[in-house]
Amino acid sequence: MEQEALAAIEACRNREELLALRVTYLGKKGSLTAVSRGMGSLSPEERPVMGQLVNIVKDKMEAAFATKLSRLDAALLQARLAEEKIDITLPGKVFPSGSRHIITQVREEIEDIFLGLGYVIAEGPQVELDKYNFEAMNMPSDHPARAMQDSFYFSDSVLLRTHTSPMQARTMEKMAPQLPVKIICPGVVYRRDEDATHSPMFHQIELLLVDKEVTMADLKGTILSFVRAMFGREREIRLRPSYFPFTEPSAEVDISCFVCEGKGCSLCKNTGWIEILGSGMVHPQVLKYCGYDPAEVSGFAAGMGLERISMLKYGIKDIRLLFDNDVRFLAQF
Ligand code: DAH
Repeated sequence: MEQEALAAIEACRNREELLALRVTYLGKKGSLTAVSRGMGSLSPEERPVMGQLVNIVKDKMEAAFATKLSRLDAALLQARLAEEKIDITLPGKVFPSGSRHIITQVREEIEDIFLGLGYVIAEGPQVELDKYNFEAMNMPSDHPARAMQDSFYFSDSVLLRTHTSPMQARTMEKMAPQLPVKIICPGVVYRRDEDATHSPMFHQIELLLVDKEVTMADLKGTILSFVRAMFGREREIRLRPSYFPFTEPSAEVDISCFVCEGKGCSLCKNTGWIEILGSGMVHPQVLKYCGYDPAEVSGFAAGMGLERISMLKYGIKDIRLLFDNDVRFLAQF
């Protein structure tokens, strides 16, 4: 049986044949297994002799199976290596990777510009006190300007902030009387408002500089450098008189249209100018409330909407696209 098995093992041409052969000899119903099962009928003297013999044959068969198996595997590998050709110049698999959301990209771009101008980033709570959101910003409870910024209230005195301006007060209150105060405050804000260009949740960046002898010329120069860094070196700005309770005087800032260069197009509604942010000289009342003496110091502030700037910069028509999380849209930026 041993010789017959070894010859058969040697003759196997592949794995399948070899594994089937193994079952024939060593499986539950295999012929060598049958020999060891039949040992019960032997005399007590014959039994150990036969047992030893079966073990020796079994070990030899196992060894032969193992050697043959590794030889067959090696031969298979050699054959595949010989015929298989790998073209290493073929393009590899592309694994899709995500990107930062357009709002994040625009926020970081703006932050970089102002960090370069020596500003520091100050972030604050989205759940805000009426005191900072309105009172400190010179909007007492009966002020009509509050109507334009209706929000989501937790109680009479706690609300989701309607703008990033409360960070002006929080920062000044903490720093007074140190100078200069030179911060930008990016963050999420909320308003009861929703249409193609308004979302109940959106992002703003606040700008604040307080120091000795800060004038409107500083405001204008700072915003001009920002606008040119953001929208191109040829941009001009225009300040239009406006009103905010927390600035005096107040100005709306327009930039010269970057699509038509001022000739008139649909983006600028044929005016040549695009409104980009609100700004002004910090109201003496705000300075006083936050611990600074308006006779000694002055400052300028500005606030801008990140969605608006992103939409302008990339020609996005509907603000809701920014929050739908549709990768077909997001992957474009
Ligand atoms: N907080 C204003 C808003 O949300 C924007 C703004 C206007 C901020 C003028 C300012 C500013 O700091 O000076 O409508």
